[in-house]
Amino acid sequence: MSAPDSIVIAPSILSADFARMGEEVRALDNAHADWIHVDVMDGHFVPNLTFGPTMVAALRPHTAKPLDVHLMIAPADPYIEQFAEAGADNITVHVEAGPHIHRSLQTIRSLGKRAGVAINPGTPVAAVEPLLDVIDQVLVMSVNPGFGGQAFIPSTVVRVTRIRDMIGIRDIRIGIDGGVGTDNAAELVRAGASVLAAGSSVFRNGAAGYADAIGALRDAAMQGATP
Ligand code: DX5
Ligand code: ZN
Repeated sequence: MSAPDSIVIAPSILSADFARMGEEVRALDNAHADWIHVDVMDGHFVPNLTFGPTMVAALRPHTAKPLDVHLMIAPADPYIEQFAEAGADNITVHVEAGPHIHRSLQTIRSLGKRAGVAINPGTPVAAVEPLLDVIDQVLVMSVNPGFGGQAFIPSTVVRVTRIRDMIGIRDIRIGIDGGVGTDNAAELVRAGASVLAAGSSVFRNGAAGYADAIGALRDAAMQGATP
């Protein structure tokens, strides 16, 4: 498994106060978040609505840390360039979001961004295999996407192991999204994950608790990174 210092904690602003988003992102940055996970939902691919590229552009001046944009939208292609121009660093599209996922990933890379593919809990992990040469990250959904605060689906762990085996020596990070907390971080890292996206477990105790929550998640994750 990767060295402990390569663990990425990516708080999801889906759990933040939407009326104070800039402040929230600054607070997460100060609390030592590595990336800021931005959940974009269209009310069609997933049963919830959040925000679009305008929000990414508005948040960009509030942090120098990577904005990790998770697109839960279909189609995604018409919006990829707008998210890139808005200042996204990583752009992740769902393998289920359309028939031309390979092209979407090529587009993201051609815009100079890290390309990610997300996979829902009900999709066979083999769907990722043909994409391994056009991605920088895989986001393994450990809940059905749409809402924060859902229970972690335990079969995610074996799915991570299978994807890690498929990745082999390629330089691709595995991220986990949904129900991630101090109770499952170590086993996820042990299975091959190195990016933990987390909403509820970071935001649970309010802004005063962000640093402690991120620190606790990192400590738990590092338990899985040591042999
Ligand atoms: C779910 C989103 C997640 C969500 C995770 O559809 O993609 O990023 O914010 O929230 P928690 O950590 O509360 O499950
Ligand atoms: Zn997400």
